Amino acid sequence: MDCIIPAAGMGTRFLPFSKVVPKELLPLFGTPAIDFILQELDVNGIHRVNLIISEEKKLLFEYFQTNTHLNNFLKTHHKAALLDIVTQFHNQFSLRFPVQKEALGLGHAILQAESTAEVVSVVLPDELLFSGIGQPSLLLSRMLEIQKKYDAHVIAVQKVHPAHANRYGMIGYTPLSDTIFKVTDLVEKPSIDQAPSDYAIIGRYVLKDSIFNALKQIKPGIGGEIQLTDGLKHLLEQKEKIIGLVFEEKRFDIGIPEGWFDCLSYIQSSKTIT
Ligand code: G1P
Repeated sequence: MDCIIPAAGMGTRFLPFSKVVPKELLPLFGTPAIDFILQELDVNGIHRVNLIISEEKKLLFEYFQTNTHLNNFLKTHHKAALLDIVTQFHNQFSLRFPVQKEALGLGHAILQAESTAEVVSVVLPDELLFSGIGQPSLLLSRMLEIQKKYDAHVIAVQKVHPAHANRYGMIGYTPLSDTIFKVTDLVEKPSIDQAPSDYAIIGRYVLKDSIFNALKQIKPGIGGEIQLTDGLKHLLEQKEKIIGLVFEEKRFDIGIPEGWFDCLSYIQSSKTIT
């Protein structure tokens, strides 16, 4: 399964820091947030990755390039080990860096990585998920199983406070079990009274390739942007199946300073335990 990581966003909630440094490089101790996303992909056996960047976020590309000057310095100072570990970890991935030239939304970003794979995962790097203390989440593998079982698009969903509906894509659904929902409606960032339920889409998607055509068909939605949620709604209208999978994982929205700090504290607690 290919993976698309849309990382072209401006990171306005992290200004002024994000004026120069992409928020995906925010450190959680010495490790940039993007490496936690790659660790999650690794445990789920996903190694073909499209990391979508913008012209302003070339530092993200640079992070994955060999820094010969640094390597030489570390070698001559007998400190190469740490960097070797990171390099070996990165070398498992086949990384591409499509550039989104205009900020036209999440759906538009995903179109920059249109692939030939029949099923793609989309992972929003603002959301870090852990299955247990210090353990990357296996949610994507569970989503892939559901995808196969139902021959459906699968989105990760979680109950949120009704007052927060306008931060998320919200779903309407019919439950098939406690954790598996047949999605019947989707609305991107509705007002509290327009949300079809209290369940929100949370940053992990396993999608069939028909999503790309859907994203080409739809018009800009809220914020004048091509929204992934609207693309999914278009698929529903075409009678395609979408399943919402409720997950139990520990989740951090590290796209905001408070969420990043909570995540930092969580990782600190795992360091204390191990
Ligand atoms: C995006 C999606 C939204 C989803 C959210 C989850 O919004 O558009 O549907 O619920 O991620 O993190 P963003 O946070 O980029 O505004």
